[in-house]
Amino acid sequence: MARGTVLIADDDTAIRTVLNQALARAGYAPRATGNAATLWRWVSQGEGDVVITDVVMPDENAFDLIPRIKKARPELPIIVMSAQNTLMTALTAAEKGAYEYLPKPFDLSEVVAVVGRALAGQGRRPRAATSPEMESEELPLIGRSPAMQEIYRALARLTQTDLTVTIQGESGTGKELVARVLHDYGKRRQGPFVAINMAAIPRELIESELFGHEKGAFTGAQTRTPGRFEQAEGGTLFLDEIGDMPLEAQTRLLRVLQQGEYTTVGGRTPIKTNVRIIAATHRDLRSQIQQGLFREDLYYRLNVVPLRLPPLRERVEDIGDLVRHFLRQAAREGLGQKSIETAAIERLKAHPWPGNVRELENFVRRVGALYTQDTLTQQIIEQELAEVLPKRSATSDSEPKDFTELVERYLAQYFAGFGKELPPPGLYDRVIRQVEYPLLSAALTATRGNQIRAAELLGLNRNTLRSRIKALDIRVFRTPMP
Ligand SMILES: Nc1ncnc2c1ncn2[C@@H]1O[C@H](COP(=O)(O)OP(=O)(O)OP(=O)(O)O)[C@@H](O)[C@H]1O
Ligand SMILES: [Mg+2]
Repeated sequence: MARGTVLIADDDTAIRTVLNQALARAGYAPRATGNAATLWRWVSQGEGDVVITDVVMPDENAFDLIPRIKKARPELPIIVMSAQNTLMTALTAAEKGAYEYLPKPFDLSEVVAVVGRALAGQGRRPRAATSPEMESEELPLIGRSPAMQEIYRALARLTQTDLTVTIQGESGTGKELVARVLHDYGKRRQGPFVAINMAAIPRELIESELFGHEKGAFTGAQTRTPGRFEQAEGGTLFLDEIGDMPLEAQTRLLRVLQQGEYTTVGGRTPIKTNVRIIAATHRDLRSQIQQGLFREDLYYRLNVVPLRLPPLRERVEDIGDLVRHFLRQAAREGLGQKSIETAAIERLKAHPWPGNVRELENFVRRVGALYTQDTLTQQIIEQELAEVLPKRSATSDSEPKDFTELVERYLAQYFAGFGKELPPPGLYDRVIRQVEYPLLSAALTATRGNQIRAAELLGLNRNTLRSRIKALDIRVFRTPMP
C-alpha cells in the first residue's frame, strides 16, 4: 500500500524523473506530468493526496491554477517549486495558499520530508486574505543566495501570521527592511508601521516614548502625549536595537506583552493594546542575558520566531544583484544609468564588507557619483576599495593592548555611528553604567554572591555596593564554596 499519491507537474523531464524516483523509494505513489492541464484534470477527478508543482509551465502559470485547485479541493496540500527564487515568488506562493514553497535547486530529502508533513496535515496554513500589489517591478529585498531563500520562505510564512519576530543580524544586514516587508505584506498592512530605536533615546525617556505620558507627569510634560504603542494601534511596532533597552523598561515592556495592556506615564487607566511586535538587534541576546543585561523572560516573549539575517560575506553571490539594484536606484535619482564589469563585481566579492549591505550601498552610490564613465571597471573599484581599507585596518585589526584602549575604540566607533550628529544626552551615566554593571557582576560571580567579600574585593563600602546592585538591577545568586 502506497503512503499516498503525489501529483507532480513540471515541464522539466529531469526533475520529474528524480522526483518520481525519490518519492517512490520513500513509499509514495507518484504521478507526473509536464503541463498544467493534465494536473488540473487529475485534481478535478479527485486523484492525488498532495501536489508538487512548478510555477512556469508551458500552458499555464501555477499561480493562476492554484486558486482553482483550492476552490475545487481546499484540503489538498500544494507544494510550489520555482527557480525564480525571489521574495515575490515565496510571498505569492504563501498568499495563494500553497502548503510550502521550495526554491530550486532543491534537496530531494527535503522534498520527501515536506510531502510527509503535508500528508500528515501538519502546520497547514490558513488561506491568506487579499493580496497586496505583488506586481511591483522593484522587489523590496534583493538576493537569490540560499541564505536569502531561507529568509524569503520564513517571511512568506510569517506574513500570514501575527507572531512576534526578533530579527538578529550585524549592522547593515537589512533588519529594518525585513521588518517593513513583514508589515507591508502582512495582515496588518492597512495599519501603521511605527519604529522606535532603543539605542537612540535617552533611557529616562524610553517609557514615556513607548507608552506616552499625561499632562504634568514630569517636569516638561506640558501636554498629554501618545506613545508609540498608541500610534501603532492596529499595526506593527518595530522595537529596533532591543538589546540596548534599559532593564527597567524591559520589565515594563514584559508586563505589557503579558497583559496586553499598559498605562501611560502618570496615567492610571489601563489601555488595551493591539500591536504586532517585531524586534531587532545586532547584539547576541543570549550573551546579553548571561551578562545580566537582558531579561531572559522577555527574550522568550520576543523570540517567538527568531530570524537571523546573514552578513553579506556569507552571501557574496548576491553582490552582483545588489550592486545593479543600487545603480538602478541611483539612475532613478538622476545619476544616469551605469553598468559594472564582471571582473569589478568579482573584486567586490573579495571585500569583507563589515558594514554589510549598507556599506556596499554607500560605496556604490559614492563611486557612481564620483566617476562619469558609463561602466564601472575593475580598476575603478580597486582604486576606491584601497581608499576604504587602510582606515579600517588601523583601528580594528590588532588586538587592543589594554582596557583603556578597548574603551577608546568602542567610543570612537560609537561616536562614528552618529555621523555628524551627537549621541543622545546622558552619555556619562550610560557609559559608567556599562562599565559598572559587568564589573560588579564579575566581582559577585568571583565571590559566589557573597556581598561582603565582593565589597572588599572592589574596595567599596558594603552599603554602597548594595545600593548599586539595586540601582543596576543585578541579580545576585549565592552559591556555596566547593
Ligand atoms: N536584501 C537587500 N536588498 C536590498 N537592499 C537592502 C537589502 N538589505 C539591506 N538593504 C539596504 O541596506 C541598507 C541597510 O538596511 P537596514 O537599515 O534595514 O539594515 P539594519 O540591519 O537595520 O542596519 P543597522 O543595524 O545599522 O540598523 C538600507 O538602505 C537597505 O535598503
Ligand atoms: Mg536598523
